[in-house]
Amino acid sequence: MIKITTVVENTATKARFRAEHGLSMFIEKDGEAVLFDTGQTDALIHNAKLLGIDLSKIDKVILSHGHYDHVGGLKYLLEFTKPKVYAHPEIFRKRYSHLSDDRNLRYIGIEDREFFEKKGAEFILSEEPIEVIDGVFTTGFEKMRTDFEEVDKNFVYEKDGEYVKDEVEDDMSVVIKTRHGLFVLFGCAHRGIINIMLDAEEKFKDKVFGFLGGTHLGPASENQRKKTIETLKKMDLRVMGPSHCTGLLMTSRMYCEFGDRVIFNNVGTVTIIE
Ligand SMILES: [Fe+2]
Ligand SMILES: [Fe+2]
Repeated sequence: MIKITTVVENTATKARFRAEHGLSMFIEKDGEAVLFDTGQTDALIHNAKLLGIDLSKIDKVILSHGHYDHVGGLKYLLEFTKPKVYAHPEIFRKRYSHLSDDRNLRYIGIEDREFFEKKGAEFILSEEPIEVIDGVFTTGFEKMRTDFEEVDKNFVYEKDGEYVKDEVEDDMSVVIKTRHGLFVLFGCAHRGIINIMLDAEEKFKDKVFGFLGGTHLGPASENQRKKTIETLKKMDLRVMGPSHCTGLLMTSRMYCEFGDRVIFNNVGTVTIIE
């Protein structure tokens, strides 16, 4: 049995939980566990305690990419545990977002590698898929394949003293092998949910039957949203849990298209795969 508990998300239905712009999901399988992303703040700690997750026992963390809303909770987690941290080698880029209303740049990256290592994190950086616990893998580098998915145009990073377009090459997702096929967890899916699922199908030689996580369809172009929905219809997934940077409007639109196959994945949601 695989159990996925959403610990941090943009919304929370029960008042005692904290909601924030961020994402974190806790994956449990056959007595092993791994935390995927850490949200933006110590909401991770607050919510994990309410959900009965023993933070001191978390010895593995996967980071989806180097944005503050997925890595911000790590420094708080390191007060409880010294885990292995799986990520892509480009996760520490100094990255920024253009604000739509002016030309200023906003820092949206994370702290340095040394900052986390001093607090006890042990990084395992790889572009290749890694099996982190039995049957639970990182995707490694996600190749772009579709012609309608693109990385957010507002992202740049500092390279040799200049700002260059950030294609978020460090974006990684989680693939869980199950008897029903592959189940995918996205951080922000900056490289496109269809790209990521096709990449997973090629790497892991099986069909994707469902996903949970950030789709970044909220800020995406209307063309990308429309074609993503068209492609999802062809893929005929059984479970879709769009979250975080999907936004409530786009999640509602997906519910109208796919009905009960869409679940509202927010803080405290538990997904069981038998
Ligand atoms: Fe995000
Ligand atoms: Fe992001």
